[in-house]
Order: sequence, then C-alpha cells, then structure tokens
Amino acid sequence: MENLLKEALDALHKAADKTELQEIYNTYLSKKGKVAGLMAQMKDLIAEEKPKFGAKVNVLKQTLEQAYSEAQERIHQQSILSNLEKDKIDLTLPATKLKVGTLHPLTLVQKEIEEHFIAMGYLVKEGPEVERDYYNFERANIPQDHPARDMQDTFYINMDWLLRTHTTAIQTRTLEEYNGKTPVKVICPGKVYRKDDDDATHSHQFVQIEGLVVGEKISLADLKGTLELLAKRMFGESRVIRFRPSYFQFTEPSVEVDVSCHICNGKGCSTCHQTGWIEILGAGMVHPNVLRMAGFDAEKVSGFAFGLGVERVALLKYGIDDIRHLYTNDLRFLSTFTRFE
Ligand code: PHE
Repeated sequence: MENLLKEALDALHKAADKTELQEIYNTYLSKKGKVAGLMAQMKDLIAEEKPKFGAKVNVLKQTLEQAYSEAQERIHQQSILSNLEKDKIDLTLPATKLKVGTLHPLTLVQKEIEEHFIAMGYLVKEGPEVERDYYNFERANIPQDHPARDMQDTFYINMDWLLRTHTTAIQTRTLEEYNGKTPVKVICPGKVYRKDDDDATHSHQFVQIEGLVVGEKISLADLKGTLELLAKRMFGESRVIRFRPSYFQFTEPSVEVDVSCHICNGKGCSTCHQTGWIEILGAGMVHPNVLRMAGFDAEKVSGFAFGLGVERVALLKYGIDDIRHLYTNDLRFLSTFTRFE
C-alpha cells in the first residue's frame, strides 16, 4: 500500500497536463483502478482484519483524491498562464493602416443643401436624366422653335428625347404629379447636360439642385428669405444676398442672385472680381403658364423656384480653382475632403 501511495503521489506531482492526469486517475482512482483493486482484496481477508484494512485503504484513497484535486488545480493554473503567454500582443509593433474613403466634395455640398431643406419640410424629388423634350422645355413654358431654347445647348437623342439640360424638368414633372394640389415644397437634385466646351469653369455635365414652392400667398419675399438662409448655411452667418433682374422663360419676374463674397466679406477681392458679390443662382416666381399647364389655378396660388449649380457652390466653398478637379478623381485631391464630413 505504501509503495502504491508513493508511486501515485509521485505521478501526480509530475503530471504535466490534463491527459496525463486522466491516465493517473484511470490507473489509481477509477472503478477499475488500483485502489478499487485493493478494496476487492478485502473479501479474501479474515473477518478481524477487514476493518483495519478497510480503514487503511480509505485513508489511502482520500490522500490520493486530495492530491489528485491539487494536481488538477495546478495544471489548470498552468494552462491559464501558458495561454496568456501564447496570446501576448506586442503593442509596440507598427499598426496596419486602414485606408478610409471620403465623400466626394460634390456629394458633400449636395448632402448639406438637401439636409438644409429637408429640415424645413421639403421633399427631395428626382427624375430621369434621359428626358422628354416635353418636360424639359414645353412644360417649362419654352415652346418648340422658341429662341429661348438656344440659351441651353442641348444634347438631343431624337426629336422627342434629350439629356435634360436643367433639373427644371423634375419640377415640371412634380407639378404634373401634384396636379393643382398645394402646398408643393420640393428640391430637385440631379445631373444635367449641356453642349458646353469643357474648361476651368464649364463642364458638359454638372449637378443642379432646384427648389420649388407653390401655395397660397407665396411671394418674392419668401424666395429672398429662403435663399438668404441657404447662403448663410453654405457660406457663413454674415452672408447677405441681392437680387438682380434676369430672364428665364419659366419664371416671371426672374432674378439672378448674388451672395456677398465670403472671402473678402464684400470688400472686393479676386474671387469676387473686386465687386464684393458672387453670382450663385437663378430664380424667380413660377410663370403662371407653367402653373396652369399643371392644373394649378394661377389666380389663387403662386410659387417661387430657384436653381443652383452644385459645382459652383463647391468651388467657392472649398476654394477650388478648376471645375475639372471635381471629375478627374485624383485621390490626392479627393482625400483632402475628410475634414469636411
Ligand atoms: N433652370 C435654370 C437654369 O438651369 C435655373 C432656374 C431654375 C432659374 C429655377 C429659375 C428658376 O439655368
């Protein structure tokens, strides 16, 4: 018995992992193990010997069980330590840099303008870029053969279809959809196309956002207030705007809108060509013909509309000197816009 105890304790002390420990358990402590084997020998002893022998085996068994659970705990602790060692992270290693994309400056400006108007209860309306002559021109009060068509050099697909020249086409579609119902309060963002020669300030394709409000007692003063808020949002709190008379076929009266220069605060600089003012958009009161064609009672309701070029706002806001930077997708240029998000 003593040999067995010594041998088993020795093995338990040396056991290095769970498998070894399990083997020792099987050898000594399991139902078919050596300790159980000792118990089985009892039946061969004479009656007086049995209690003494039984007590001894019990002590042996308890000692071994105690040593077994101590060995278990020791191995458990060791495995925690060795796992910690294995999983050690070297915080001094250089990190893998993740390249994060940025939003395009045109997207940033478009988002900002959309958010500005959505917050005031406007809906955002979109429409097709391949558009019918009808919505692009006729419904905007520009009939066939009218000289006003020359104001916008158009990519025609055939007699009836063209690439829309302005997002006014979305407005005429929207008016048709509302069919006389007010209030109409929408902005219409989208790409437009014109047969322009590309240079630092022109592109044959660009992005417009137009706004349209129709309802009772909508006046030029509402238009002015609305655009002044927009100018402040895009170019800073101290901006003011001014109207100059202009001409569009679909608005009457029509105005050209200038914003006080955000670079020199109106004193005069190269950005504003020493005038203190920067022209940013066209606008006006929706022409009664346009309203009538869409089923509105032009005696009872009125509306204003405005249209701005997103590129132009982006160039001014971010001080970009050439519109082509917005299309050539040079990452060195685009990646500078992270800070504007
Ligand atoms: N559609 C005009 C353009 O593209 C802009 C505009 C929109 C003017 C709405 C007045 C009212 O130049």
